[in-house]
Amino acid sequence: MKKIYGDVVLITGASSGIGKATAEFLAKHGYKVYGTSRKAYFETEEQVAATSDSSGFIKMIPLDVCSDDSVKKAVSYVYEKEGHIDILINNAGFGIAGSVEDTSPEEAFAQFNTNFFGTHRMLRAVLPIMRKQGKGLIINVSSVAGVFPIPFQSMYSASKYAVESMTEALRMELKPFGIKVSMVEPGDTRTGFTDQRLYAKDAQNSVYKKYFTKSVTSMEKSERNGPGPHVVVKEIARIINSKNPPIRVTSGFSYKLFVFLKRFFPPRFIQFVISKMY
Ligand SMILES: NC(=O)c1ccc[n+]([C@@H]2O[C@H](COP(=O)([O-])OP(=O)(O)OC[C@H]3O[C@@H](n4cnc5c(N)ncnc54)[C@H](OP(=O)(O)O)[C@@H]3O)[C@@H](O)[C@H]2O)c1
Repeated sequence: MKKIYGDVVLITGASSGIGKATAEFLAKHGYKVYGTSRKAYFETEEQVAATSDSSGFIKMIPLDVCSDDSVKKAVSYVYEKEGHIDILINNAGFGIAGSVEDTSPEEAFAQFNTNFFGTHRMLRAVLPIMRKQGKGLIINVSSVAGVFPIPFQSMYSASKYAVESMTEALRMELKPFGIKVSMVEPGDTRTGFTDQRLYAKDAQNSVYKKYFTKSVTSMEKSERNGPGPHVVVKEIARIINSKNPPIRVTSGFSYKLFVFLKRFFPPRFIQFVISKMY
């Protein structure tokens, strides 16, 4: 790894799945990784796990991306320890399943609060530091669902569409400040995500139940049989190794192909294919 942007990385949601695998990969390559979890504590210094063959480490710190106060504390902690934050990976996220009609406004907000507003809170806390440094790299973890909305995952898809849109705008805003912005779009990946999925309360006794169950079962099967997080880590590493990272990188060959083909096929055809899948 070339350390183009520096060696201090902050990864939200590093206790599991993609965030954890990314943290481990970067620490092995000599990065100083601050990973976050809602279950971590600032006090536990022994959580600093120096890897055997490099000066890199992973230190887990507490963070709830839904809390302004928690975000400020976590970012200040890293800045005070290191004096700079070179790479921010906004990875924390989860999914809610349910039809649009069955999802309450509170459930929809909870989905956006983590996936979209959580990313926004992190950006607002870290960007003043990166602007002062005159450099930095932001990687937002989106989803293929942020390109192709999935039935019964509408609020999840919408939250990732919102991340996609904000990321594109942010990239243009930060160009004059030397800060690079990119996003990675994982397809179905075998992580803790499937077990963490929440279901809209009204989905259980719903007129949609037959379709909802079929769709979510198929989605969960695809996630559980999907590749491990290493496929996403590979794309994140590619972004970190690039002076001029692309706007978006999709992970996995079939998803890359699907995203590419979206440009050439009419929306009706795309919806037909997604409906067949889910
Ligand atoms: N797996 C997939 O198929 C897939 C596909 C496309 C996109 N993605 C995206 O990839 C990202 C990582 O997901 P994953 O698959 O690795 O799932 P995961 O194994 O469930 O990991 C999710 C991570 O997010 C953290 N998190 C959740 N809510 C949080 C909050 N409010 N504040 C802070 N941290 C929070 C969790 O940490 P704690 O619970 O310890 O706080 C955990 O470390 C997510 O943004 C997800 O949308 C996943």
